[in-house]
Amino acid sequence: MTQTVTIDLGARSYDVVIGADAQEAALDTLAALLPRKRAFVVTDETVAPLHLASLAARLESRGIAIEPMIVPAGERAKTLDVVMGMVDRLLEAKIERSEPVIALGGGVVGDMAGFAAAITKRGTKFVQIPTTLLAQVDSSVGGKTGINTRQGKNLVGAFHQPDLVIADTAYLATLPEREVRAGYAEIVKAALIGDAAMFDRLEARGASALDPDNLTASIADAVRFKAAIVAEDEREAGRRALLNLGHTFGHAFEADAPPGVLRHGEAVAAGIGLAFDYSARLGHCSADEARRVREHLRLTGLPDGPKTLAHTEWDAASLVERMRGDKKNSGGKITLILARGIGNAYIETATQEDDLREFMETSLK
Ligand SMILES: NC(=O)c1ccc[n+]([C@@H]2O[C@H](COP(=O)([O-])OP(=O)(O)OC[C@H]3O[C@@H](n4cnc5c(N)ncnc54)[C@H](O)[C@@H]3O)[C@@H](O)[C@H]2O)c1
Repeated sequence: MTQTVTIDLGARSYDVVIGADAQEAALDTLAALLPRKRAFVVTDETVAPLHLASLAARLESRGIAIEPMIVPAGERAKTLDVVMGMVDRLLEAKIERSEPVIALGGGVVGDMAGFAAAITKRGTKFVQIPTTLLAQVDSSVGGKTGINTRQGKNLVGAFHQPDLVIADTAYLATLPEREVRAGYAEIVKAALIGDAAMFDRLEARGASALDPDNLTASIADAVRFKAAIVAEDEREAGRRALLNLGHTFGHAFEADAPPGVLRHGEAVAAGIGLAFDYSARLGHCSADEARRVREHLRLTGLPDGPKTLAHTEWDAASLVERMRGDKKNSGGKITLILARGIGNAYIETATQEDDLREFMETSLK
């Protein structure tokens, strides 16, 4: 069974097809986007041997030949050089704007292929076929594309919406369990921001929330939630910033940890735990709600704060300094996404830095 969620952006609306056979279900739609009978597929060295052949076979059955572009796997490959390699190949092949760049992979491949699509000929079509849980519930939807620079993550990029997203849960069968858990953090995040009933459902499933049978419904819930926020605030001028719940803390952990030690979703999970603890400290949500959040994170094998991350050598002053460099800040104040309860996140723009530092020192002890 597949479910389709439409991202409603007027002329730039598109469908996200989700489920155990989404690739087959969306094949007609995909083939219709490929009138020149060729498909530029960007994937990475890990995903290519696992999943490129099945996509190629399906497309070949429609007379479509694939032109693969295989990039190194992982965050370190998310550079302008790698994107320019793609652009070069696309231009050499004389891609037309009406032809899509297809991303087959996790968030790294999706962000880079999307950026290549955004800048090649000032914008070609773009299709996301996310193969990690994180990419299925989060990065493939919403149109943010980009790369990392030595100044930080995702500081260069473009908004470029896809024309189709195919979130086939069969891909998750080959995904290491740690990656599945990291992606699940983004599902929990969606519930905590704005859907208390969804959190109740996740909580009721407990540790079995990660079972494949339960995941399809949760992916669709999370995508539906993100779709509503993106439709309201495509370019993150306001409400879309809520999607950064746990991210200001999380990015600081990611930046301060040795490279490659933390998964993004793990850092976000720890950040979500802290965001609820800090909200409780400020009296905005109850200590019991913060406890419930942390308990569900732990139960599903996720960190619930800095002490349960894979790296534990933290320095409060350094983490707060990292938070001062966050993209969301304005007027010299750290912006945090906090919560007035489960399912009720808000944007705090008047963070008191001394209080935050004191809170971080206590949380690290
Ligand atoms: N654009 C957005 O809105 C947005 C949102 C959140 C995160 N992101 C970005 O997403 C990236 C993280 O994405 P990610 O967690 O998917 O990481 P990733 O793309 O690095 O994938 C994780 C690892 O899993 C491998 N992999 C992918 N699919 C697999 C499969 N089906 N089976 C086995 N292995 C597989 C990859 O090769 C990689 O080694 C970050 O760069 C982050 O900045 C973007």
